[in-house]
Amino acid sequence: MLNEKMEEALNEQINREMYSSYLYLSMAAYSSTIGMPGFAHWFRVQVEEENIHAMKLFDYINNQGGRVRLKEIKEPPMEFGTPMKMFQQTLKHEQFITRSINELIDLASAEKDETTASFLQWYVEEQVEEEENDNEIIDKLKSFEENKSTLAEIDAELAKRLSPK
Ligand code: FEO
Repeated sequence: MLNEKMEEALNEQINREMYSSYLYLSMAAYSSTIGMPGFAHWFRVQVEEENIHAMKLFDYINNQGGRVRLKEIKEPPMEFGTPMKMFQQTLKHEQFITRSINELIDLASAEKDETTASFLQWYVEEQVEEEENDNEIIDKLKSFEENKSTLAEIDAELAKRLSPK
């Protein structure tokens, strides 16, 4: 059973995950515009990930007898600069999401809601993976800036990303 405070905070998190989905969809569109189909594919897979994150919260709130409230999703930017700048923004956004998950866990502990705290552990691990993925791509882009690889090579690698199971 969710209390009102926890329900409201989880609904906020649905909105953050949906915004993440929207943000990465915009990055996918931008990547296509700058002629990077592999980057575009990578971001489209990331959109699928974010939709899963949102839907897990949606199901959890419903299963706990709470009320899902879908709030307005803010418009994401359309321009992201160089691929490096775009991935730096991606990492920064994921760090923000990680902080928001940690705050939700703090709230669950304060509210003595062990069930929600335990449910949120999945997100803690997921966020480690998300930040790792972004850092790996930033490293690849550094190697491009140091003339050790080409953007076309990185684009081809990102094109191989698989959809989440
Ligand atoms: Fe749902 Fe990328 O955090």
